[in-house]
Amino acid sequence: CGITAAVGADDAVSTLLTGLQNLEYRGYDSAGVAVADGGGVEVLKREGKVDELADLLSRSSMAGRVGLGHTRWSTHGPPTNANAHPHTDCYGDLAVVHNGIIENHGELRERLSEMGHTFSSDTDTEVVPHLVEAYVDEGESVEGAFRRAIGDLSGSYAVAMVHEDEEAVYAARQGSPLVFGVSDDSYYLASDVPAFLEFTDDVVYLEDSDVVRVTPEGYDITDIDGTPVERSVETVDWTSEDVEKGAFDHYMRKEIDEQPTAIAQAVRGRADGDEVAFESLSPGAFADVERVHFVACGTSYHAALYGAQLLRDRGVPARAYLASEYAVTAPPTEDGTVLVGVTQSGETADTLAALRRGAAEGLGTLAVTNVVGSTAARECDDTVLIRAGPEIGVAATKTFSSQVATLGLLAERIAREVGGSGSTPAGLPAALDDVPDAVETILADSSASALATRYDDSDAYFFIGRGTGHPVALEGALKLKEISYEHAEGFPAGELKHGPLALVTPSTPVFAICTGQHTEKLVGSIEEVSARGAPVVAVAPRSERDVAAVADDVLWVPETHPELVGVLANVQLQLLSYHTATLLDRPVDKPRNLAKSVTVE
Ligand code: G6P
Repeated sequence: CGITAAVGADDAVSTLLTGLQNLEYRGYDSAGVAVADGGGVEVLKREGKVDELADLLSRSSMAGRVGLGHTRWSTHGPPTNANAHPHTDCYGDLAVVHNGIIENHGELRERLSEMGHTFSSDTDTEVVPHLVEAYVDEGESVEGAFRRAIGDLSGSYAVAMVHEDEEAVYAARQGSPLVFGVSDDSYYLASDVPAFLEFTDDVVYLEDSDVVRVTPEGYDITDIDGTPVERSVETVDWTSEDVEKGAFDHYMRKEIDEQPTAIAQAVRGRADGDEVAFESLSPGAFADVERVHFVACGTSYHAALYGAQLLRDRGVPARAYLASEYAVTAPPTEDGTVLVGVTQSGETADTLAALRRGAAEGLGTLAVTNVVGSTAARECDDTVLIRAGPEIGVAATKTFSSQVATLGLLAERIAREVGGSGSTPAGLPAALDDVPDAVETILADSSASALATRYDDSDAYFFIGRGTGHPVALEGALKLKEISYEHAEGFPAGELKHGPLALVTPSTPVFAICTGQHTEKLVGSIEEVSARGAPVVAVAPRSERDVAAVADDVLWVPETHPELVGVLANVQLQLLSYHTATLLDRPVDKPRNLAKSVTVE
């Protein structure tokens, strides 16, 4: 979910709407706003995308200088008007938006119901306005009631509230993201900075247990008991143009095209020959590391699998775990393990839980993330930024490339410090400098678009690869299923014969990712599927003639270091997914049931 608030803006409603449009990548099941003018609270909300709310607002006279907004990704209850935020108390004199999960909502709901409160939604959120109402009824001030209500919650949340008695927003966070934007004459709260970037780039990263009260005249940040806390204002270096779609039909297409710049930024100033330095890591930071464990979800997990392979290639024991599994069944803790969380947003709850578990067991933690000031960046011992710039499309594209480029440098650095020795070809840091141009070449190639047209009525799509080709096969399949809704699966090529081959028919194209390593074995896998009549598309550098000879089609990638072919192959597969989804008329940037940043476990 995405929450936003505007205080002091001349027209809070249009500011909130802009904020919601900029946050829509966080959820788009339903949306709503509330304004308070010191004399009443007005709420408008509805099921569906933010555009539908905008339509409703254009026909309303809602106005005010102080308000809240919310765009929802359902966790408790289906996406209906009633479940849309903001939620109100029995009298409708206060409104609350919330992101996260209130774990004790059942117990609170029962307690409030016994006191006579009636609920009108299935959400966990609705207990918050009723709790505040109950405390105000007991004689508490609005502020006192808000603090007591927050103190009753367990779970993870970012909450914001307006009350009819005051021209003010109250907000608090515990485990869910909440940033505070400050300008000369107005203030903004949001789940993520892009919500208000066009109004200000001065940001306070709120911390867990912070409570903020904002009025048009100013703000104060305190802990839950009301003791003031110092939080510095930082200026972010993302611009509002970075989060606009420009001439592109979709953010995803824009972000695919931004990859040459994103990769160049990830690498810039970090490699000198084969020497790798990260601005945030002191020399010798990995000297005592004996093994590396990665935790991540979704696309970031595929980048982590890739990174683990690069470390193993350099003789450093490494393994990638799905964060949600690690958080429940971690491997035995061993000294010398560093736990690396790979997370674009730095806010994915499963990844944060895995990192916290590792930290609690005494492991050193490192965040590899795109977002300065994110929870992962703040909680881990160290942080390496991937510097991809904001990514808005729900399907991750440029951040995968930037993650792999960054993990490539990290693998070199760790291997050098721990004295790892593998059989990997030298020269990866230098080769990364040429990847942006190679990606440009792919972006100018129309082959993926032509193949999308040829295969867009297939029964299913399979992706196979070995070594670093395996995470790319998984990512190719994930991208296609996320945005086209077609059945797609990625497999390690060698596993085909142990089961998946049963699915292969003339109507299931197989995309074989050829990195130039393990080619002979990959050719064998291609022959297995060809023999069952499946069309085969190789994704390969031009030198891989043996693969091209057995494939029906080829998506070519420029020659590069063998460990980086996968990054280029992935760009071809991103284009294939993008064109397939647009041919099928899918909502590319907002696939059904998905959200960019999942802040619940
Ligand atoms: C969500 C998104 C995925 C993303 C995953 C991990 O599921 O839909 O695209 O890969 O979260 O996100 P993170 O921010 O941790 O990289």
